Amino acid sequence: MKYILVLSVTTFLLFQCSDNKTVLIDDYSKEETQKITPLTNSWEKTVPFQEIPEGLTSISAKSCGVCHQDHYEEWKHSTHSHAWTDPQFQAEIAKETSPFMCINCHIPLENQQENIVTGLINGDVYKPVNHKNPRFDKELQQEGINCASCHVRNGAVLGPTGTDKAPHKTIKDTVHLSENLCISCHNAVATISPQLPCTFETGDEWKAGPYFGTKNCKTCHMPDTVRSIVSGHEARKSHLHYFMGSGIPKFIDKPTKMLNGLLIKTIPLQEVYNAGDTVSLKVSLTNEFAGHKIPTGDPERFFLIEQAVYTKDSVLLVEKTHRIGEEWKWYPEAKKISDNNLLPKEERIFSLNFVLPSEKGWFYKTKVTKNRASEENKKYNKLPEDYPIQITIFEEVNHFKNE
Ligand code: HEC
Ligand code: HEC
Ligand code: HEC
Ligand code: HEC
Ligand code: HEC
Repeated sequence: MKYILVLSVTTFLLFQCSDNKTVLIDDYSKEETQKITPLTNSWEKTVPFQEIPEGLTSISAKSCGVCHQDHYEEWKHSTHSHAWTDPQFQAEIAKETSPFMCINCHIPLENQQENIVTGLINGDVYKPVNHKNPRFDKELQQEGINCASCHVRNGAVLGPTGTDKAPHKTIKDTVHLSENLCISCHNAVATISPQLPCTFETGDEWKAGPYFGTKNCKTCHMPDTVRSIVSGHEARKSHLHYFMGSGIPKFIDKPTKMLNGLLIKTIPLQEVYNAGDTVSLKVSLTNEFAGHKIPTGDPERFFLIEQAVYTKDSVLLVEKTHRIGEEWKWYPEAKKISDNNLLPKEERIFSLNFVLPSEKGWFYKTKVTKNRASEENKKYNKLPEDYPIQITIFEEVNHFKNE
């Protein structure tokens, strides 16, 4: 039972017989044996409470969107805007086994969190010291990683130029708005408990790869453009805010933009084959365009490469499915068993060998899908039937030359 539970929990997961995670300080204050330890890791902390910058009336994305319409529309397509509402995320944080810090990268501002955590009892991540947050803003919480998560600090809007044309207090800060901002959430390697390793290594993968020093997270995920950033204002340098990535949406009716990292080619069969010949169907996948491994981030992501051969009457003769992704064992201790994720610029060839029967008219299909989570995981988390976990990125039908 426990094994199955562990297997099907997603992201960098966990298992521990958890104690009540919403303990209030008063429950413990009388017990002197309880030692309160401070929070140490960055992901244990929130971005401290943010005041509304001078010249504005709110820090909600919706309010920024009144003036920055394009940025708002783009951001709404991004998974950043669904980092809280994502049904899978909601299913996971509802579990007693999810520690308090899960929310810190998904709703990073203190303003977005119901409780303020000031320490851990005996250093136990399942016993955070919680205080009610009197300034909790539910509307902001729904927005997940909103404009203010990245742009508002110390009563000002941080921007790349510090322009004096804005109605709000604006400060130039290119250090904060660098790729390090992305890496602060997209790279976390730690063992929180034996069953809860945290392995997001996109930043490290990028640093170790060929793009370090030439292209960074923003170059690829926030491409440059020239446009007016508030209607009626002069065009200036700007960046698309779709934060496009895998392209697997969180809601079927809210598509998200995709970046394609793979170059996929079926290798043409050169010869004419006769009955009894062994045929080798090959497809090549190269990580041509991603600045890190494919897939990256969440260890539960994977690609499937499906090859299938059919008779002329579309009867399946033989098929093979290959997988690119990590494999984990979660019990008794979480451990990565294998990782065949594609490195930047790496090419891999997948093949299906079979003996051609006598008849003619055979054809074969090659299909590649991107997957965010498995079907078992979707079932385990009781996610809605129409919750998208997969997209098809390549499909090709080829006929043999033995006609
Ligand atoms: C009342 C309209 C209005 C609202 C609301 C507004 N802005 Fe702006 N903002 C502007 C204008 C105007 C500029 C300057 C336009 C230009 O440079 O062409 C600007 C500039 C910016 C810049 C660029 C700063 C730089 O350094 O170049 C950023 C970033 C920004 N706003 C973010 C935000 C965020 C985040 C919010 C919400 C918390 C917000 N704005 C709300 C009107 C607005
Ligand atoms: C406050 C933490 C945080 C910051 C800062 C952040 N991200 Fe994210 N990002 C996330 C989380 C959490 C998700 C996943 C949301 C979900 O799936 O519900 C995500 C999702 C993404 C995705 C989409 C992944 C997919 O499945 O397609 C891309 C691309 C991305 N981020 C790029 C960036 C870039 C580029 C930056 C820097 C400009 C950045 N992020 C900054 C936390 C962050
Ligand atoms: C050279 C361009 C490039 C750079 C640099 C780059 N990425 Fe990507 N990234 C891509 C492409 C292309 C994809 C889509 C991969 C795919 O699914 O085919 C992607 C996918 C992603 C995803 C979605 C997860 C997945 O497995 O598809 C996240 C999250 C992400 N990138 C974050 C980052 C962060 C953070 C950085 C900086 C440390 C970064 N990327 C640097 C091109 C880049
Ligand atoms: C995940 C972090 C992140 C989020 C969320 C985000 N931005 Fe940005 N934004 C950036 C970064 C980084 C830059 C600076 C790019 C540069 O110049 O290097 C930027 C630049 C800008 C600029 C300056 C012009 C431009 O396009 O480069 C404006 C205006 C802006 N953002 C508005 C917004 C608004 C409005 C929202 C919410 C709807 C938002 N941003 C959400 C990271 C973010
Ligand atoms: C260090 C920051 C950070 C923390 C802490 C964090 N996440 Fe995330 N989470 C991310 C990022 C970044 C992504 C996007 C990963 C990607 O697509 O590469 C993400 C994506 C997700 C997703 C969507 C998975 C997908 O493939 O689209 C779920 C669900 C999730 N996290 C749950 C959790 C849970 C549960 C916890 C606590 C155990 C947690 N997160 C803690 C940064 C974080």
